[in-house]
Amino acid sequence: MSELAKVAQAMVARGKGILAADESSGTIEKRFKSINLQSTEESRRAYRDMLFTTRGLGEHISGVIFYDETIRQKASDGAPFPEVLKRQGILPGIKVDAGTSDLAFCPGEKVTEGLDKLAKRCQEYVKLGAKFAKWRAVITIGRDMPSTTCIASNAHALGRYAAICQANGLTPIVEPEVLMDGDHTIERCEEVTEWTLNAVYEALYINRVVLEESVLKPSMVISGKDCAAQAGVEEVAERTVRILKRCVPAAVVGIAFLSGGQSDEQATVHLNAMNRMYKGKLPWPLTFSYGRALQHPSLSAWKGSAQNVPQAQALLQHRAHMNGLAAMGEYRVELERKAA
Ligand code: 13P
Repeated sequence: MSELAKVAQAMVARGKGILAADESSGTIEKRFKSINLQSTEESRRAYRDMLFTTRGLGEHISGVIFYDETIRQKASDGAPFPEVLKRQGILPGIKVDAGTSDLAFCPGEKVTEGLDKLAKRCQEYVKLGAKFAKWRAVITIGRDMPSTTCIASNAHALGRYAAICQANGLTPIVEPEVLMDGDHTIERCEEVTEWTLNAVYEALYINRVVLEESVLKPSMVISGKDCAAQAGVEEVAERTVRILKRCVPAAVVGIAFLSGGQSDEQATVHLNAMNRMYKGKLPWPLTFSYGRALQHPSLSAWKGSAQNVPQAQALLQHRAHMNGLAAMGEYRVELERKAA
């Protein structure tokens, strides 16, 4: 088996998932605002230091996604962050997209940039210790949205990105996110997710991407945040799995969902329901690659202060554990209460 395929398999190993800690400087600034903390290079370093030095993090976390600044930073003991993860048995990954821009002639829609010089950047990241990469495409649901232009442009970029990564030694995470913002129904989300995934896998094929060396990071099929009718847990699980079965080739190594603004526990419960209801019936493992849903309690407890580090780390480890159980369909809500 190729090295890239081995990395993909390790990323979705049983009972493990990925910690997305690749917030851009703009996004982390927003997160820090919620705890009244100024975002500086040092506060961002201290926060990531707290996350990555959590004892036992590797029990439930297979990989961490870094931002460009983070992969170059060091822990308080002087070790580079990729080294800190290696000690924990965790694979370092890197966000290689350059964020989203307005899509020309498509008001309200975005296209992800970052293909220019991507091969060279991948080579540098490999030298810094990265084993896998991530690229996030954003699809917005709204009036006359998404457009064919938006789906095609973003799928094309994902295909080009994934091929460039594989050709330069990184296992790609392919992340097409259908946003949950808006008042659309779950039916509409299902339709758009199906359209998006079909376009993405066609683009991957055209770009000669090796599916056996790739991981998909999709959003779940879920009701719009402001939709009056909120679908229940089993409906989310059924519709999400139905669309994945239709659109994602069995050769894909694994599926690691993003949390996308779901509450911490909701993200866990949905993942658990899919694994419980479809145990042994799917060609790929279903796990998590959560940002907010893993970090949120930990960030709130940390508040930028060294004395809160032990509690913040315990909360991160707890969410990682709960999601690790959900990745096997073995999560129970009583386990939350016990920890509280
Ligand atoms: P969330 O789980 O907060 O959606 O973040 C995952 C991610 O990596 C978004 O690109």
